[in-house]
Amino acid sequence: MTDPRWTVSWETDLDAAAHADVAALLSRAYARQSARFSDGRSWAGARPELRVVGRVGGVAVAHAGVVRRFLRALPDGGDVLVGDVGLVAVDPGHQGRGLGAALTARVVDVLVDLDVPFGFVSCGPAVEGFYRAAGWTRLPGVTVRLVDTHHRTRVDTDPAMVHAAGRPLSAWPPARELARDGQLV
Ligand SMILES: CC(C)(COP(=O)(O)OP(=O)(O)OC[C@H]1O[C@@H](n2cnc3c(N)ncnc32)[C@H](O)[C@@H]1OP(=O)(O)O)[C@@H](O)C(=O)NCCC(=O)NCCS
Repeated sequence: MTDPRWTVSWETDLDAAAHADVAALLSRAYARQSARFSDGRSWAGARPELRVVGRVGGVAVAHAGVVRRFLRALPDGGDVLVGDVGLVAVDPGHQGRGLGAALTARVVDVLVDLDVPFGFVSCGPAVEGFYRAAGWTRLPGVTVRLVDTHHRTRVDTDPAMVHAAGRPLSAWPPARELARDGQLV
């Protein structure tokens, strides 16, 4: 496989064609939810601030979105700044060849450059192993109170995964529940 060309872009620097390219990738990778990404809509819930995109032949084949936000570590762990990561996707035709691992490594580099202490992902159980293989750590027994893509508030028991960026994981605050008061990416 040709190595992808990687870019890191702020949301307002992307034009409609770039969003359409990413939206097409997301609808291929999230096939059961492809309707969400119609009409060049390259987001499902919150819009990322920053996107990491890998392209082959000018076409997006790998993508992750990042938004910086504070999580509240409940009941009394204070606030923690994270790079909240979502819309992680590799084109089905390019999966299983290390592209996802390369993508998440780039995301962590971006978080370090941004001086964000930690990366954070809440992921489906089916992909926990992918994040673990990429060096992410599951927070055991931690639930996430969140606003979903339908603007509903709910408590999620899916794996909450973190990665050290500007700070070591030992600095992660104690928490039984993390409140993410913005919509998920
Ligand atoms: C999850 C996804 C990004 C993985 O991309 P990929 O390019 O196939 O992943 P890689 O080839 O880089 O795999 C890296 C490692 O993760 C493992 N892995 C990949 N997908 C996995 C999964 N679903 N479960 C467990 N392990 C997985 C690989 O075996 C590999 O392990 P190794 O380093 O020990 O060989 C891709 O399958 C995808 O886009 N899925 C649909 C969208 C999605 O579910 N995104 C995640 C939302 S949170």
